[in-house]
Parts: sequence; C-alpha cells; structure tokens
Amino acid sequence: MIYQSDRLGQIPPYLFAEINKKKAALIEKGVDVIDLGIGDPDLPTPPHIVGKLVEEMQDPVNFKYPNFIGCLEYRQAIADFYLRHYGVDLDPETEVLALIGSKEGIAHLIPTLIDPGDMVLIPDPSYPVYRMATLLANGQYFDMPLLKENNFEPDFSSIPPEVIERSKLMFLNYPGNPTSATVDIDFFKNAVAFSKQHGIPIAHDSAYNMVTYSDYTAPSILQVEGSKDVAVEFGSLSKTYNMTGWRIGYVVGNKEIIKALSVLKSNTDTGQFTPIQKAAAVALTSDQSCVKNHNRIYEERLAVVLEGLTSIGIQVEPPKGSFFVWAPVPEGFTSTGFVSHVLEKTGVIVTPGNAFGPSGEGYFRISLSVPNERLFEAIQRIKESI
Ligand code: MLT
Repeated sequence: MIYQSDRLGQIPPYLFAEINKKKAALIEKGVDVIDLGIGDPDLPTPPHIVGKLVEEMQDPVNFKYPNFIGCLEYRQAIADFYLRHYGVDLDPETEVLALIGSKEGIAHLIPTLIDPGDMVLIPDPSYPVYRMATLLANGQYFDMPLLKENNFEPDFSSIPPEVIERSKLMFLNYPGNPTSATVDIDFFKNAVAFSKQHGIPIAHDSAYNMVTYSDYTAPSILQVEGSKDVAVEFGSLSKTYNMTGWRIGYVVGNKEIIKALSVLKSNTDTGQFTPIQKAAAVALTSDQSCVKNHNRIYEERLAVVLEGLTSIGIQVEPPKGSFFVWAPVPEGFTSTGFVSHVLEKTGVIVTPGNAFGPSGEGYFRISLSVPNERLFEAIQRIKESI
C-alpha cells in the first residue's frame, strides 16, 4: 500500500470528477443523459480568439517557457479591461498575475497566505476548491452561511471573535456559484471595512463577472476606494468567452499578495502557454459583442428553466448573474436524495446543494449548459419523475 498524506485523506474526490464518472457509466448503459452538472459552456469559443491562437502557434518564439508572471500583452489587456469596464487602474507589472485558470490560483493562494492551523473564512455554500485547498494547506475553515433571507450574503457580525482572531484570509464570490446571488458595491464596501478592521485579506472570485442578465452590471471589489490595501480579485476567461478547457485566468489587486503568490507559483508551475495568453488578450480587448450574445442565450435558457420549475411548484427568483439556477428541492427530498432520484429515474444530472457546503442542503443546482430544447426536456423528465 502506498502511503498518502493525511491532508489528502481529509478531502473527498473532486465533486465534478465524480459526476463525470456517473455520467460515463450512464452513457455506457445507453441512457440519453442530459448533463446540467458542471458549469461548462456548450457554445464554442468565438472564432477571432481561436484565430489568434492559431496565428501565435506558428511563431516558434512562443514555444519557449512562458514568462513566469504572464506575457506583458496579456497583463496589459487585463489592466485595460479593468480601466475600461470598472474604471479601476492597475499596474500590469505589479498588480496583475496570469493564472492557468483561476482554480489553480485560488488553490495556490491559500498556502501563500496561511500557516498550518490558521483559519480561512469561506462562504457556505461555495466553490469546493476554497474548502479543499484550505485542508490541503493544513488550515481550517469557518463556514459563513449564505442564507436566502440575507440575499446569500455572509453576516460578518455573526463571526465569533475567536474565529476572526485566527483568520488569515476570506473568500467572497459574486455573482455567486452555486447561489447565483449578486451584490452591489455597498456590499463590497462593508467587506473591505471588515477586512481592514480585522486585518483579514479578501480574495474575491469573480469568475462570473461578465455573465449577467437584464441591465445588471456586476461590480468589482477593486472599485471600493482603498480596497487594493487588502483585496485581490480572481478572474477567468472560462465562462465569459467559453474557454473552460483553455485554462486561462488572472488575479489582480494587492501587490504584496500578487508578489507572494508569484513566488509560490514560479516554484511550482511555469505559467500558461504563451499563444493561449495572447489569444486571451485579444478576447479581452476586441469587440465584446460575443459576450452580449452569450448572455442573451443564457437569459433565454434561464427563462425556460424558471418557467419549467414553476410548473413543478418550485419557485426561484430570476438571478441577475452567473451560469446557474439555485433551486430548493421538492418537499420530502434531501439534496442528495433528490439528485440521485433524478439521475436514476430521468438521466438528468444536476448538482446537490450540500456538495457546496452544509448550508446548501435543501437545494440543487442547474447549470445552463445545454440548449433550450434539452433544458425543456430535462425539466419535463424531472416533472414526470416526482
Ligand atoms: C462549476 O460547475 O462549479 C464550475 O464550472 C467548476 C469549475 O469552474 O471548476
């Protein structure tokens, strides 16, 4: 038997890897699976971004190791995007770091900022990586419950003083995964004030910043005056430009955190392939009509799901952002019980709310990752099964 670390023993297999295994088993059995599990866009990456990748791949200079902090073209494009979209000034040399997708950056940030035994404040429910990477760093986490009655925002005043004292980092995430909750700038102002009062840096995960509906625009935490003293913001091209498999993201904000993370990262990875970074730069700087088109498609899908859920007696307030619908399970079911029932009886994959943290119990998550007809069919199948 090969010994494996205690740290690894504490964490379950990755949620979406397990879902993929179940999916493969069902497909093997001939089931017509409708996968509303992982938030993986089905639409293609826009052709101008693919074209830039192909062009850059012809240049042998790009075959060498990438620059450790990311190529300047990409970092400058991120800074330009922040100025254009949020009115936030960033120094591409010191306040921007390229990532191999924001997942790795988030996971690497935790051992950058905490020592074994330190505490990380984590929204509950949230993206499983915050929790698992904390355990892998021998840290502990404190779940900040996100409840419907609080607009799925953490109540900072309810965090016990002994937890605050041991906390070295706090995660936030809006538009939220899995809750799809959105906030306005006042929420970030309060978060920054709390962070400064207690000396707890903030990592805001803004993976869904551009996936928004109606006339809602998601704010950046860096729009709060003085936020760069304490905060960094993670961003991703995955959902905005349908680039999940490309693995390209970034982190911006506080210089000290960026520098420390780049020390850790340059010792453990060598950055993303330069042509991918250059294509990502084009995504951020060229005409953004593709983003509007994607959001229009998701908004239509959202309407199909919400109408379908209403017909089953499940009421959900229309979210203003993210790629997900966060819905209460029908009466008499637990999250896991409902998801297993649906999978077994209908071949539809949805994600159990409790997989994102204990406060997710009683909910399930639908990802808007298939066309309208398939979403409609998925909801009909669910309707018939309950
Ligand atoms: C999700 O479905 O929660 C995300 O797509 C997972 C990820 O971004 O890794």
